[in-house]
Amino acid sequence: MNETPPRADIGVFGGSGFYSLTAEAETVEMRTEWGPPSAPVAIAAFGTARVAFLPRHGAGHRHPPHRVNYRANVDAMRQLGVRALISPFAAGSLRPEIRPGEFVVCDQLVDRTWGRESTFHDEFHDGPVHVPFAEPYDPRLRRIMLDAAAEVGAVAHDGGTVVVVNGPRFSTRAESRWHRDSGWHVVNMTQSPEAPLAMEAGIPFVGIALVTDYDAGLDEDPGIEPVSQDAVFAVFEANLHKVRELLDAAIPRLAR
Ligand code: ADE
Repeated sequence: MNETPPRADIGVFGGSGFYSLTAEAETVEMRTEWGPPSAPVAIAAFGTARVAFLPRHGAGHRHPPHRVNYRANVDAMRQLGVRALISPFAAGSLRPEIRPGEFVVCDQLVDRTWGRESTFHDEFHDGPVHVPFAEPYDPRLRRIMLDAAAEVGAVAHDGGTVVVVNGPRFSTRAESRWHRDSGWHVVNMTQSPEAPLAMEAGIPFVGIALVTDYDAGLDEDPGIEPVSQDAVFAVFEANLHKVRELLDAAIPRLAR
């Protein structure tokens, strides 16, 4: 057999909810040395660009954030040859001015996760590998996402720090206050090790927070209920069309 390996130009860590196209998607079962990715990859044509979609939590949201095989997911994208990775994610806001339903095109990340397989270099076979990570998010991709947001009229905050917690539980009020007092903006459970692995794989990466809640609540407004899983899923679902519009506007810009 001499099959041509599947190829894609752009990768998106998100599932079928994200592609609003008429285009048929080709589904590919990828294999990696790190094990299977969370799900088969769906590859669809957007104009001239081929876009690979991989839902990080798998079918039926079966992989919790601390058990996602991030190495397999990023490696699958690397094998496909993607030159840009877009990572939309649900996030809690730590500040009143960042509201549910809005986007944050993050420029920094604080990793508070532990116990995850977070590198492709568990052994230094060919000498040490320490990738620079001062800028976890690609500035050009960030600009493109911000321009795309402006085009579709979505509120997108330019810059912000995501603190990544291990989960699967949400934060206590004390943790949430600490995160905010540290100067961070949104909280999530999956940006690490997704972002550092993309850096190790040499794939430009952009993380787009879709704000679903105010985490453990806001001191300014005692009326705000602490986040619940149901609220996160409901707000994400209600705003999924915005993510789709953003991707629809961003992909032609990325392809150029
Ligand atoms: N994802 C969505 N909302 C979140 C929150 N408040 N904390 C962690 N991850 C989240």
